Amino acid sequence: MNAEALKQDSHIKKVVLSEAEIQQKVRETGEIISKRYSGKPLLLVSILKGSFIFLADFCRSLTIPCEIAFMRVSSYYEGTSSSGEVKIIMDIDRDIKDYHVIIVEDIIDTGRTLRDIIDRIKARGPLSLEVITLLDKPERRLVPLKADMSLFEIPDLFVVGYGLDCGESYRNLPYIAEYTE
Ligand code: IMP
Ligand code: MG
Repeated sequence: MNAEALKQDSHIKKVVLSEAEIQQKVRETGEIISKRYSGKPLLLVSILKGSFIFLADFCRSLTIPCEIAFMRVSSYYEGTSSSGEVKIIMDIDRDIKDYHVIIVEDIIDTGRTLRDIIDRIKARGPLSLEVITLLDKPERRLVPLKADMSLFEIPDLFVVGYGLDCGESYRNLPYIAEYTE
């Protein structure tokens, strides 16, 4: 979807993070992670669907070998925030004991979804585990949880684009925008 088409969309209020800002930060993160995991067996676990575009750019910003796995979960919602009850819809396709694992997430809001995912993955005994999230809304946190790396902190807004959706739409925007009803 291009910028021109979007000017017609009344729900898209403003661009919060431009394509250039995102790409720059993803490149910098790739450099840091390439140094940190050089010579180590690395598995990126992308939490679907929201992180698929971030994962695609992030894994290509690495200068070291890595493997990729996917996990899809659904969170049950109570009003506007997740309840913490998480159901695994699609699980990682292998044993992770021999890997250093990085969870690649789109956004941490209340933190409940990720808390549950971290606990489940830790229980499987990876060599190490860290979390990288594209976006973080610290103001919204309901459980104590901090990502090891967060590319951007944003205020309490509902955002779409670059993989994030509203009712499954807007994932293909190349930037992050604020969505309003
Ligand atoms: P949490 O359990 O409240 O941290 O929920 C995190 C999940 O809620 C994310 O992985 C997203 O799928 C979704 N989410 C939270 N905030 C937003 C947003 O602003 N836009 C789109 N999805 C969001
Ligand atoms: Mg997500």
